[in-house]
Amino acid sequence: MNPRTLPLRALLFLGLWHTGRRSLASAPGLQEQPKRIAVVGAGIGGTSAAFYLRQEFGAGVKIDVFEPGAVGGRLATVKIGDYEYETGGSVIHPLNLHMKHFMEKLGIPQRKDVPSKMAIFDGKELTFEESDWFIVNFLRILWQFGFSFLRMHMWVESVMDKFMRIYQYQQYGYSFSSVDRLLHAMGGDSFLILLNQTLEETMMSQGFSQIFLNNMVAPITRVNYGQSVRINGFVGAVSLAGAAPGLWAVDGGNKRVCSGLLYNSKSELVPARVTSISVKVRPSKAGTTTSFYEVNYVGESGSAHSLYDIVVIATPLHQGKSDITFSGFSPPIPSHYPGRYHQTVSTLVHGMLNMSYLGTTEQASEFTVSDILTTDSKDSVINSLGSLDPVHIPEGYKRPPASQTKVWKVFSPQPLSQEQLQDMFLSWDSVSETRWLAYPSYRPPHRKTPPFILHNRLYYLNALEWAASAMEMSALSARNVALLAHHRWHQQVGNIDQEDLHTRLRGEL
Ligand SMILES: Cc1cc2nc3c(=O)[nH]c(=O)nc-3n(C[C@H](O)[C@H](O)[C@H](O)COP(=O)(O)OP(=O)(O)OC[C@H]3O[C@@H](n4cnc5c(N)ncnc54)[C@H](O)[C@@H]3O)c2cc1C
Ligand SMILES: *[C@@H]1O[C@H](CO)[C@@H](O)[C@H](O)[C@H]1NC(C)=O
Ligand SMILES: *[C@@H]1O[C@H](CO)[C@@H](O)[C@H](O)[C@H]1NC(C)=O
Repeated sequence: MNPRTLPLRALLFLGLWHTGRRSLASAPGLQEQPKRIAVVGAGIGGTSAAFYLRQEFGAGVKIDVFEPGAVGGRLATVKIGDYEYETGGSVIHPLNLHMKHFMEKLGIPQRKDVPSKMAIFDGKELTFEESDWFIVNFLRILWQFGFSFLRMHMWVESVMDKFMRIYQYQQYGYSFSSVDRLLHAMGGDSFLILLNQTLEETMMSQGFSQIFLNNMVAPITRVNYGQSVRINGFVGAVSLAGAAPGLWAVDGGNKRVCSGLLYNSKSELVPARVTSISVKVRPSKAGTTTSFYEVNYVGESGSAHSLYDIVVIATPLHQGKSDITFSGFSPPIPSHYPGRYHQTVSTLVHGMLNMSYLGTTEQASEFTVSDILTTDSKDSVINSLGSLDPVHIPEGYKRPPASQTKVWKVFSPQPLSQEQLQDMFLSWDSVSETRWLAYPSYRPPHRKTPPFILHNRLYYLNALEWAASAMEMSALSARNVALLAHHRWHQQVGNIDQEDLHTRLRGEL
């Protein structure tokens, strides 16, 4: 749309922006601010929701964050020897702007970078190995994959370009009432089609070969999502973007961001598990009725309940992930939505690698590959094997070669048996296993994604995970839900589900 053809109303609306959205919110006659907000779950989703809710609703509202486990959720570390290591979500893309913003806001530095090197293992031998030399890598890739590799990066970048639009929309205070509308605002129909097709279909239709998919793309989807190229095209693109240079992590562990956001948002952490949520209607002073959400929870000191004006669910409503009953809602809200979460077992082994397991004759003392990806073959029991650096890189640290006893991280769909460990390692002195229900099992064509809005003022953050699961996705969803909650509270419908934002905001940069 040409800016000149913009309807007057839209121009007025855009003009209003310069006077600030906040002045609208405080205009007389509009509803007063909410008094109490509950957030269920203190992973990166719940804690960033607390942060953005504080930003939207100001200092007056009381925000309670319920969490029965450790703050961080799927961001967690374990201690091996003197050091801590990530077992869950570990790397962050350089263009994940919300995560970057949190770091600045909280004054937490990024972890010092240790150069990495990748190889691909087909269950028998290494089919690809990066060298220390850029030009050698370039030639190896060209030799094995032709220009497919370059074309893949161009495709991912074109998806990223559209993805990045969401930051501008959110900056201007726009929010979306469903996952489909949010994706459509970023990338139009092409994003909805991505969600509806497998990565394999998407890439094949663009002329990528089956060989390239098997030998280069599948290893990347396997390491990032434990699944094949039959995941949806959107999460596929997110996954391939995660194979770019410049990935970073949080110094001291990614979960630090979660506790930082909790503290920064001045919310109260309630160490309890939410068991049920119901709607309560009460007469108000003005003679009308107001509805509240009653949140029932169980903590160490037994069970209790509290009333809230707004509730944000920031945990997956899925089998094995949470068990919350919703009562008194019409239409009813299910405890579990259809679809399941994929298991990824993260095994951290402090030991010495068996180089013959990789079918290589290279000297262990010369072997400095950090990330070993795997192809999708019946010989592959593991999804990936990596040499793991601690969450804080000590001064003068260099990643030790494979001839030394060090920490390796294995991702596999099933726990590793004793025999499998014996095959992979010559010796070890500790093994730490975490069984994650890690991310959705992506099976396009997708059924309807779960809603962001479960009821008037009851929101569901993890709906967006069904497009793609990542720290940044949870943060994006948190901001969207906070904006949505704010606009719906104050009946600012003009900030919800606007079409053509990309064209309309073009002149605003
Ligand atoms: C092995 C693995 C590797 C990954 N790698 C990456 C990566 O490299 N980069 C990346 O960006 N992402 C990665 N991810 C994905 C990323 O970790 C997740 O997308 C993200 O952490 C999800 O955050 P969340 O807050 O939405 O959910 P969660 O972290 O799951 O938080 C939900 C919280 O809710 C709590 N909860 C559950 N039920 C209740 C209840 N009834 N009452 C109160 N609280 C409740 C849970 O205890 C949990 O703490 C990885 C995930 C895994 C498992
Ligand atoms: C997704 O696929 C299903 C089944 O093939 C179809 O019914 C639906 O209309 C598709 N949606 C989009 C947005 O393409
Ligand atoms: C090392 O790997 C090879 C090849 O998989 C295997 O035959 C051998 O038993 C493994 N273990 C040791 C200790 O060599």
